[in-house]
Amino acid sequence: MLNLWYKNAVIYCVDVETFQDSDGDGIGDFKGLTGRLDHIEALGATCIWLLPFYPSPNRDNGYDVADYYNVDPRYGTLGDFVEFTHAAHERGLRVLVDLVVNHSSIDHPWFQASRAGDPKYRDWYVWRKDKPEDAEKGVIFPGVQKTTWTRDTKRKEYYFHRFYEHQADLNIASPEVREEIERIMGFWLALGVSGFRMDAVPFMLEDLSSAHSGWEPHRYLSQLQTFLSWRRAEAILLAEANIPMDEAGDYFGTGDRLHVIFNFPLNQQMFLAFARGEAGPVSDFLKALPEIPAIAQWATFLRNHDEIDLGRLETQEKEEVFAAFGPDEDMQLYDRGLRRRLAPMLGGDERRLAMAFSVMLALPGTPVIWYGDEIGMGEDLSLPERHSVRTPMQWSAAENGAFSSARAKDCVRPVVAKGPFAFPHVNVARQKLDPLSLLSQVRRLIRARREAREIGWARPEVLKAGDGSVLALVSRWRGGGVLTLHNLADRPALAHLPEGLPFAAMSPLLRQGVHIDAKERTLRLDAYGFEWFRFEDGSGTRDEDEG
Ligand code: NOJ
Repeated sequence: MLNLWYKNAVIYCVDVETFQDSDGDGIGDFKGLTGRLDHIEALGATCIWLLPFYPSPNRDNGYDVADYYNVDPRYGTLGDFVEFTHAAHERGLRVLVDLVVNHSSIDHPWFQASRAGDPKYRDWYVWRKDKPEDAEKGVIFPGVQKTTWTRDTKRKEYYFHRFYEHQADLNIASPEVREEIERIMGFWLALGVSGFRMDAVPFMLEDLSSAHSGWEPHRYLSQLQTFLSWRRAEAILLAEANIPMDEAGDYFGTGDRLHVIFNFPLNQQMFLAFARGEAGPVSDFLKALPEIPAIAQWATFLRNHDEIDLGRLETQEKEEVFAAFGPDEDMQLYDRGLRRRLAPMLGGDERRLAMAFSVMLALPGTPVIWYGDEIGMGEDLSLPERHSVRTPMQWSAAENGAFSSARAKDCVRPVVAKGPFAFPHVNVARQKLDPLSLLSQVRRLIRARREAREIGWARPEVLKAGDGSVLALVSRWRGGGVLTLHNLADRPALAHLPEGLPFAAMSPLLRQGVHIDAKERTLRLDAYGFEWFRFEDGSGTRDEDEG
């Protein structure tokens, strides 16, 4: 039987730079992270995704790589990386690293050689003699980024950059570049990682090359999967691909392309549903969810290290989410997103936060958690762009939240020190001891999700529960079933269970503010109440692999 570990993984995303500093220089490092594995293990995560930690001029939080085969000396050495993965494995935690090969930093020696006309690297990037007419279209960071083609003074040509002008797009159409990408993957796989979070996949597959080489962009994903599985059987590709659902087939193939894709559209519907206090946006989305191959998977998330991208909502819907969660202009970004953390958006209301986590964990897919959200950290809007949500982890009430022993002004970014989300109140040490804290709730929720393996495999059935604020889902797999009910509204709601479900034989897995009338098959959910049940399911199929 195949071990599709990622179907029921719980992924915790860490930025080494802001997690834990071990040597007092104000910058997080691998030794510090290794020393904090207890927290990740106790949370119940099973896999760690590391944001880029490679040598980099760091003009885009490390997504501007200057050397793919090393660790930035600010975070430690390759030796420290291996010690970290070893320690993670000892605790049963897998490690994924970011693969950022749509572009490199313009400081990368490859780009420097390319602009100098070195024949080996001449075609490693995408060059044009004249500035294309559509150069101002398709910028990813409107308001900050002006163009996608910039003139290089040395080569006297224009290079393409989908993102910032310091991130030149690699020419993936070149066979040498594709070979190098495999070399990079092979390198990190040999150091023990279980796969890659692949950056900007749809942009990687855009073919802007002038000399075509018979390269077929989406099929290239199959080649990568084949390469990966020969090198390390369990390795996966977890793709950042903000795609409409009808393109899923191109990216998953028959199960021979990407293993996991972040479900960005679902994330947007979730925030619309939270804003309205209505289940409709999520229920409707799930009813239309495409069938995907059994080995493929969605990744679900509440927040990540970027803005919440609401670009796939209708204008009116986007305005509703802005009004509910980020009404000030300063909270919004790139005309499409919110640069806030989860906890402040939900008013710091722990019941609402627990409900939000619970909904995310009940949705089809593998959950991914952004560090700090498990304790309800806040943002710092005085920091530029997306840095607002990238402040240091808050470990305790000690200086700098125990992130670093450096002077506060020497920390890589300030720890949130003012307001209701400041480190003296919001920190791991404080919440660890309190069984009612958000951290304790999130730990319990993750435990339940790990028990409820049906959720990782099933395409859930959406039930009509009566009240429009209640999201009711049934996930069935291999003879087991899980029923989850969530009240998204700030007022109580009644839910009625349909006859088909074996209500009397269901055992509760989780509960927050729910009162059950078994005779009437009715649940009364308090504001933001939720309930998870398990049951034996006669209709389950037995033809899938164990996860
Ligand atoms: C997506 C990453 O998530 C984001 O942080 C980065 O700025 C862009 N890719 C460019 O690499």
